[in-house]
Amino acid sequence: EAAEKGGYEHFMIKEIHEQPKVVGDTINSVLTTDGKIDLSEVGLSEEEIKDIRQIHIVACGSAYHVGVATQYVMEDLARIPVRVELASEFRYRNPLLDEKDLVVLISQSGETADTLAALRESKARGVRTLAIVNVVGSSIAREADNVFYTLAGPEISVATTKAYSTQLIAGYALAIQFAKVRGEIDEARYSGLIKEMQTLPEKIEKIIEDKERIQWFASKQANARDVFFVGRGIDYAICLEGSLKMKEISYIHSEAYAAGELKHGTISLIEDGILVVGVLTQPDLYEKTVSNMVECKSRGAYLMGLTNFGQYNIEDTADFTVYIPKTDPLFATSLAVIPLQLLGYYVSVARGLDVDKPRNLAKSVTVE
Ligand code: G6P
Repeated sequence: EAAEKGGYEHFMIKEIHEQPKVVGDTINSVLTTDGKIDLSEVGLSEEEIKDIRQIHIVACGSAYHVGVATQYVMEDLARIPVRVELASEFRYRNPLLDEKDLVVLISQSGETADTLAALRESKARGVRTLAIVNVVGSSIAREADNVFYTLAGPEISVATTKAYSTQLIAGYALAIQFAKVRGEIDEARYSGLIKEMQTLPEKIEKIIEDKERIQWFASKQANARDVFFVGRGIDYAICLEGSLKMKEISYIHSEAYAAGELKHGTISLIEDGILVVGVLTQPDLYEKTVSNMVECKSRGAYLMGLTNFGQYNIEDTADFTVYIPKTDPLFATSLAVIPLQLLGYYVSVARGLDVDKPRNLAKSVTVE
């Protein structure tokens, strides 16, 4: 096992380090030599893309969080209505599906029981299914009408990192291509988005290089009782994943909250010393989330800010700040998630826990 870890202490940190490579591989797998997206391997024709009435994204766990992020990107670029659902809800809900809809299943293993059941239910109702899957030949990959393979390679750590990051790329590629085919973006925006997507591996690498600062901060937070992750829009999707990473491997209670919802209940839990992580990658929403952070601070919270380089006035509010390289706001999830993966990892290590095999959890949930 030590050999498989390639010199790293845990699979999780090894897999975090693999992200620049596997994200790059997944991007390249759908690009032509002249820098265009080619979905012919996935098998959706232009006519079929033009015909889509609504997209239903269905998944569990972190894959569901990819769905939440993808919803923002797809609706913004392609202007197709998207609904994101937990597979365990979708399968028992008598969903409204139209023959012009597309059901997108996201799954690393391709074996998650609820996601597989949602796929079968959709097919039984005659709706086209597209699976974003990592494991070749898995049940979901075999049964779906169309498959977008992520190239994360085998993921061992129960807490997903690299598979999640490659699933995001699949979501971006579909959104960019659907937008182009449906005439929602022009040639310049199309190639600009693709070029920006190609810079993500290098930017992820830079964030990982700065891991010692997060390790230091994590060691200070190892005894935290509760952590709240707050953000708006895509930043809320990032919070969902940051919070799950924290709770699943460190056993510290954490919640993700849409920042504007704090005042509807959660703010009553904020007291002296509680850690609040504000995610502020979306320029249009920056001021709004800062004001929510100020509200938490005035009730005693200790604040971590996660924002873009250049947004230095965050230091007027936050006690500790992590900066990420600039990118198109639609791709911010790919960068902002990295420090949050590292935070969860290093808190778990500082607490001396079994990082790769957290209690009560399985890598793939193949029974209901
Ligand atoms: C388990 C894993 C998660 C994963 C979820 C869905 O809970 O621990 O990391 O996100 O299952 O798995 P899937 O294989 O369908 O992506």
